[in-house]
Amino acid sequence: MSFAPTPSVRGVPPTALYAELHQVAHAVLHGESDLVANAANLSALLWEHLPDLNWVGVYWVGGTPCLGRLGDATSPSQLPTELVLGPFQGKVACVRIDFERGVCGAAARSRATQRVADVHDFPGHIACDPASRSELVVPLLNGHDVVIGVLDLDSPRPGRFDATDQAGIEALARLLTPGAAS
Ligand code: SME
Repeated sequence: MSFAPTPSVRGVPPTALYAELHQVAHAVLHGESDLVANAANLSALLWEHLPDLNWVGVYWVGGTPCLGRLGDATSPSQLPTELVLGPFQGKVACVRIDFERGVCGAAARSRATQRVADVHDFPGHIACDPASRSELVVPLLNGHDVVIGVLDLDSPRPGRFDATDQAGIEALARLLTPGAAS
């Protein structure tokens, strides 16, 4: 199946757009250690500048009770295997996602980005918004390579996310993670 490529925004091709977004996100997030504040600002930035999104946000491993120890965890066994809704932009979303469920759970479980061209083809996809047709979920890793959350982007357009989006969002996600190289 083939899908139409993402159009450029304001005449800026996607690679240049992600370079710009990275500069802005670095300026906004650098030096701030509050995970929730940074996730809120990154979600707002992506929501404002990326076309064709119907949801963007973060799920944290274990949610608020675990936030203080996400950066220090040296093994996944020190953390729950449940994702809990964090800062986001878009419609109301499901709050708790077990690692065994959905695209977000697959990213958390496998520690690998999930780029799903058509969510109808993804067994177990969780339809928080039936309008969602494609999805990109990037795991957030701390300095010990332990998954502490995921950055999730949804689109109403099938095939919305390509390799350029994946590379751009993965680089932006690294700005969000404590102790990880950026
Ligand atoms: N679709 C996701 C659930 C989260 S929402 O899209 C915000 C999933 O299958 O994990």
